[in-house]
Amino acid sequence: MTILTTSHLTMPAIGLGTWPMKGAECEGAIETALAMGYRHIDTAEMYGNEVEVGRALAANPVPRGEIFLTTKGWWDKPDGPALRAACEASLERLKTPYLDLYLIHWPSPQLNLASALEGLARIRADGLARAVGVANFPAGLLRAALDLNIAPLACNQVEHHPLLPQAPLLKMCAAHDMVLTSYSPLGKGEVPAHPALGPIAARLGCTAAQVTLAWALAQGPVSVIPKAASAARQAENLGAAGITLSAADLATISAITERRRFVNPGFAPDWAA
Ligand SMILES: NC(=O)c1ccc[n+]([C@@H]2O[C@H](COP(=O)([O-])OP(=O)(O)OC[C@H]3O[C@@H](n4cnc5c(N)ncnc54)[C@H](OP(=O)(O)O)[C@@H]3O)[C@@H](O)[C@H]2O)c1
Repeated sequence: MTILTTSHLTMPAIGLGTWPMKGAECEGAIETALAMGYRHIDTAEMYGNEVEVGRALAANPVPRGEIFLTTKGWWDKPDGPALRAACEASLERLKTPYLDLYLIHWPSPQLNLASALEGLARIRADGLARAVGVANFPAGLLRAALDLNIAPLACNQVEHHPLLPQAPLLKMCAAHDMVLTSYSPLGKGEVPAHPALGPIAARLGCTAAQVTLAWALAQGPVSVIPKAASAARQAENLGAAGITLSAADLATISAITERRRFVNPGFAPDWAA
């Protein structure tokens, strides 16, 4: 398992995304993932599965201290007090005394940035989360958050794959000792079908999904959180850690010019901001 270490956190580079799994499917997926070596689980208040995630972790022989657990407060929590209450409610549902990473899930149109960052800083200082960060922050908003210098931001979790390479955010994260966590790193399962990836996978004797994830991991301090319900695909995705792409292969993938964003809800920020 590749481990990412920054001044803010130590995080397994490959985690299991849990959206949109619920109930027994979610618990079963976490059980198989932990059994094969996953130690990083991504959930969120909005996924409606924190109770199941907590149950699966509690029932598992892997100690809590060996697991990196991320959850997120939904965008209807636009300030510090609302985020604090949301974080406490997540801890209660997850039945854990602390989170490894707590994120603002989306920047609310009503976001009070300074207050939200103060809330994050206090969540960390009070031990509710060992690290804090944001998700879906475009470069301008991340710059504003960093300039305020209120909370030690450890991570920006954004959609990231060869059709959405996020160069400015990668640069900003690396410069500020932040991890960029790639969500939808397989483009909802569609990106591995891109014609540039298959020939590389065939030559390396791996799958196009593994090439897709290995490309993301090679882009800097990046973690990936592919969602896979089955043990077979979980193992395939975890196996991406063992794939080393040559500079030529990385360049071939980075030369893809097609752009596609798979996650773009109505409340999304102006991505160019
Ligand atoms: N912060 C945010 O706003 C945000 C937004 C979206 C997602 N996320 C997080 O990121 C996680 C992953 O993103 P995502 O679920 O949107 O997309 P994804 O991980 O890119 O793709 C998941 C889809 O790909 C399939 N898949 C998994 N492994 C595969 C493989 N090896 N080959 C081919 N297909 C494969 C899965 O199907 P099966 O499960 O049937 O195998 C599922 O349909 C989420 O679960 C969530 O935790 C965060």
